[in-house]
Amino acid sequence: MPDHPPLSPTHLHPGLRRIALTGFMGAGKSTVGRSLAYSLGWRFLDLDTLIEGRSGDSIPNLFRTLGEPAFRRQESLALVHALGQSNLVIALGGGAPETLANRLLLEQTPGTRTVFLTGPFRVLFDRCMLQAAAGALLRPNLQDPLLAESRFHSRQVLYRRLANLTVDTSSLSPAEVTENLRTALASLPF
Ligand code: S3P
Repeated sequence: MPDHPPLSPTHLHPGLRRIALTGFMGAGKSTVGRSLAYSLGWRFLDLDTLIEGRSGDSIPNLFRTLGEPAFRRQESLALVHALGQSNLVIALGGGAPETLANRLLLEQTPGTRTVFLTGPFRVLFDRCMLQAAAGALLRPNLQDPLLAESRFHSRQVLYRRLANLTVDTSSLSPAEVTENLRTALASLPF
């Protein structure tokens, strides 16, 4: 990341207060979110990081000790917290749109727009495996690849329905995705 913000301004609609990035694990929500926030001069919040900070435990441990339903409740509380803030780029967890309350919150909180980062299952899965090989904790919902692929497919309709913008990240660098988003956000109907 450079020391100084890029100079080219993006003319966002003044009513736009926050951008939520959604999509399956490995789509680039955290990497692109951080870079997009930086380029807009906004703050960045990763919901998984917030949940880990609040609970003092890792996401895989929370899944193991509390179970996925309890994790989902913490995820909804974290989303409410995030949607109360302005000038914020939010990286949602890949499963957040499965919860109806989260979808309603994203659609009905004024000033909020949702971006769907997408790509083929194999590309996203392999990215996550590379991250795990490099030392990141393996995401609990990737431990069974067949189940992960079936979740990937069943979630597509939810991601698409929420999306104000969609970008396929499979053959783009994070910097290219960020630049595409800056351009698309500047002409997003509000
Ligand atoms: C999950 C995605 C993860 C994390 C948890 C569950 C999912 O977030 O919330 O492991 O069910 O898709 P990322 O999409 O940021 O990896």
